[in-house]
Amino acid sequence: MVHDEPEGSAGELSFERDIRPLMRDKDRASMLDAFDLWSRADVLAHQDAILDQLRVGHMPCDGAWPAERDVIFSRWFDGGSRP
Ligand code: HEM
Repeated sequence: MVHDEPEGSAGELSFERDIRPLMRDKDRASMLDAFDLWSRADVLAHQDAILDQLRVGHMPCDGAWPAERDVIFSRWFDGGSRP
């Protein structure tokens, strides 16, 4: 899946449009015992652990995201984590 860099300011990033599509079926299935990566509420509740795991490249388990994807994630958080 190629995910274009979303346009606009951090405050315009949306979970449904910009963040959830980053999470593959197998990401969600693998993490569902801990939390639901397709749930905005769950992602917010685990945001620090998620940002840490992404930044060190420990997650996703089958290979780190390209840096620009980590940036989209932290921009969404910094922009107020809109639905
Ligand atoms: C196929 C993909 C994935 C697999 C197989 C997987 C598997 C695992 C496993 C086995 C753990 C627990 C032990 C460990 O830390 O290694 C873990 C922890 C974690 N994973 Fe994943 N994961 C995947 C994708 C992701 C993605 C895409 C994210 C976030 C965007 C994520 C976020 C986390 C976090 C935050 C933890 C720590 C949970 C805690 O605080 O207890 N994982 N993952």
